[in-house]
Amino acid sequence: SEAFRLGIAGLGTVGAGVVRLLTEHAALIETRAGRPIEVVAVSARERTKDRGIDLSSYHWCNDPVELAHLDGIDAVAEVIGGSDGPALDLARESLGHGRSLVTANKAMIAQHGLDLAQRAEANSAGLLFEAAVCAGTPILQTLREGMVGNRIDRIEGILNGTSNYILSAMERQGEDFGEVLAEAQRLGYAEADPALDVDGGDAAHKLAILAALAFGVEPRFCEVEIEGIRDIRAADIMQAERLGYSVRLVAMADMERQGDSPARLLQRVRPCLLPAHHPLASIDGPTNAVLAHGDYAGPILIQGAGAGSESTASAIVSDVVALARGETRPAFAVPATSLAGVKCADSGER
Ligand code: NDP
Ligand code: HSE
Repeated sequence: SEAFRLGIAGLGTVGAGVVRLLTEHAALIETRAGRPIEVVAVSARERTKDRGIDLSSYHWCNDPVELAHLDGIDAVAEVIGGSDGPALDLARESLGHGRSLVTANKAMIAQHGLDLAQRAEANSAGLLFEAAVCAGTPILQTLREGMVGNRIDRIEGILNGTSNYILSAMERQGEDFGEVLAEAQRLGYAEADPALDVDGGDAAHKLAILAALAFGVEPRFCEVEIEGIRDIRAADIMQAERLGYSVRLVAMADMERQGDSPARLLQRVRPCLLPAHHPLASIDGPTNAVLAHGDYAGPILIQGAGAGSESTASAIVSDVVALARGETRPAFAVPATSLAGVKCADSGER
């Protein structure tokens, strides 16, 4: 049957991983998608950079926004990053043109997700971003599909692999913060600007997306209270340990309702002392975990790799396969026009 043709914008840690996965698992993916998935065009900054992948059969675009209009493309995967700039231009152009978009870009979805979801719906395009939260650990599918019949009023998790890697390395070996961060960067876990990881912004982006999906509200990143791990020292971690606690960067969202309607939203990212028996206390290294409390399903804990080339490529490919199968899913579980506005706990009325 006819191939599903993909354009990829960004060929760094994630983009190169997507090319590798689609190449290595081409036969398996064709069977599961019901049709082959072919990369037809790519874009990055430097055409001649050695990325360890063969790009010779793909059309090259100097400007990623070309992928929104190039003939013969069914969907675009945006893995450039950044909440604005070329990633947002490409997303707006693609969706505005009725071309489906898959993205790993939590900064963009947390800040422009409502606008992008509205564009997607207005133009009958798909918008999927499983990779944006917990990389290949399928938390968004779990909320969007697996828990669709539940009311969820609380969601909490460890959402940043880099800071969890730093905290657990400091806990195990008393290692230096700077050295461990450099290692996380080398391993491809960190953001292009690692301040987003260590100062909590990246976890806040992901929390705003989770809250939107779990509670049926629009993403409200600007109102997340944020404190990162930059000031935590090995001595603090040792002292907590002696008292029976682990230090983890925890993201937490609570929804207060009036009847069935969302009334007040509290979203926080901050380092917490977790007692040893807490399900998030033993989450180690670049692992992420989310605990969602469904009124019928009960507490659901999902955990797995939260960063890295292979894990993130896995999520991108799962979204691409969904599009190739013709599955339509509202980006935030309900139509964008039905996403509720809410009063945030600390910022008053919108
Ligand atoms: P990288 O920095 O490794 O890759 C970014 C890519 O985008 C590079 O190939 C770069 O080109 C390209 N690029 C940058 N600016 C432009 C531009 N103006 N025009 C065209 N191409 C451009 O980032 P990652 O792969 O790590 O991350 C990509 C996205 O995935 C981000 O949104 C990130 O938050 C998200 N993500 C990352 C995860 C991870 O573990 N790394 C996990 C989950 C999500 P060149 O190579 O030529 O410089
Ligand atoms: N920099 C992010 C992290 C990548 O460390 O979790 C995954 O979103």
